[in-house]
Amino acid sequence: MEKIVSLCKRRGFVYPSSEIYGGLSGIYDYGPLGVELRHNIKQYFWDKFIAEREDVYGMGAAILMPASVWDASGHTSEAGLVDPLVECKICNERVRADQSEAIKDHEAKHKGERVEWSEPKIFNLLVESKLGASEQTATKVYLRGEITQGVHVNFKNVLDSMHPKMPFGIGQIGKAFRNEITPRDFLFRQREFEQMELQFYIKPDEEEGKKWFEYWKQFAWNWYLGLGFKKENLRFRQHDNNERAHYAKDAWDIEYNTPFAGWKEAWGMHHRADWDLRRHSEFSNEDLSYFDEETKDRYIPWDIECSGGVDRAVLFVLLEAYDEDELGGEKRVVLRLAKHLAPYKAAIFPLLKNKPELVKKAREVYAMLKKEIPNIEFDDNGNIGKRYRRQDEIGTPYCVTIDFDTLEDGTVTLRDRDSGEQDRVTIQDLISKIKA
Ligand code: GAP
Repeated sequence: MEKIVSLCKRRGFVYPSSEIYGGLSGIYDYGPLGVELRHNIKQYFWDKFIAEREDVYGMGAAILMPASVWDASGHTSEAGLVDPLVECKICNERVRADQSEAIKDHEAKHKGERVEWSEPKIFNLLVESKLGASEQTATKVYLRGEITQGVHVNFKNVLDSMHPKMPFGIGQIGKAFRNEITPRDFLFRQREFEQMELQFYIKPDEEEGKKWFEYWKQFAWNWYLGLGFKKENLRFRQHDNNERAHYAKDAWDIEYNTPFAGWKEAWGMHHRADWDLRRHSEFSNEDLSYFDEETKDRYIPWDIECSGGVDRAVLFVLLEAYDEDELGGEKRVVLRLAKHLAPYKAAIFPLLKNKPELVKKAREVYAMLKKEIPNIEFDDNGNIGKRYRRQDEIGTPYCVTIDFDTLEDGTVTLRDRDSGEQDRVTIQDLISKIKA
């Protein structure tokens, strides 16, 4: 984990937030390569869960939502988005009562002293704000604690504007905020993070519920594997009765076997039944039922939810891809990223920086490739060996070297990141090779 944190900062993936002002804990900024990796993960979600499907619509709801939304969804209640906290009677610091590790860490700070704790108290994780010019008239709002509610409150709008037939889904990607007491493990538990979600609405029926829950569990599993994980590093785990969120009838996680803390949640599957639409109907007095033209039934649909964290996917993808090996007698760090996730798809080098004819040709090849594959880098710093090491460390699948033979016969050296093997290929073949 320490190696990943250091690589992320050094190579422009992730920076501590507002670092020059001391930063905020549990919040991170993404650098030039990090945004590309995030973008590729989100694009892959959007393609598979939304764009390629006939039965799913995309949407983008606002981050700020009235407090009433969260009363209806149950997130402001004692069963909602809450953590139990205990207070240290020596220094008054509060720690999660359900995290024995956090309690032990805290007790270790008071070496030798006997630490007494208060009774656990419930703490709500929603991040509150106010909109409006004066204290008297300002409206209390919350930064959304999950992106889900933005979809449910627009259920009727999507019905009225798109006229979908059941079953159908609404997918969304966006930021969520939780005032986590002990943000930890780099991107794993943050206070500002991004989620990718699908709410899939079905007929309220036990058999339908089981069928679609199983369908989306498998779909999500295959999607997660497609991020480049080895099967043995992922597993499903069902939530116990006392662990399930207040809205869930059934819940399963896809977990990743992390090197820092063993199996950890990467993705959540929730059978939310009619919890959200029923509650929003009751609290808003709007009819959020669906009229089924075929069966002439009117009902509040059930919701099967897929929910994944973008930042956790970034962290787990980096942990899975990180490798150290030896190539040609030299040690190297290599990120074995799936090609569709790599920030740069290829890097173009002139063999020698001080030979104008090589630089000119390399620039031409670069410009030609960049039109077809925008994420291409031009690199002429240092010697070829250094350039390879640099590209390996950021996961660039191919390096293309323009040399004197290129000027004669139009061929270049194409080097593969994982094997280090080099092929001689024509400039015309480069696009298809890099895209393959
Ligand atoms: N709408 C359902 C929902 O929000 P969740 O299990 O609380 O369910 C879903 O969150 C996913 O969001 C998790 O699997 C995780 O990937 C991500 N996530 C949740 N809390 C997070 C945090 N504090 N930091 C980073 N990612 C988080």
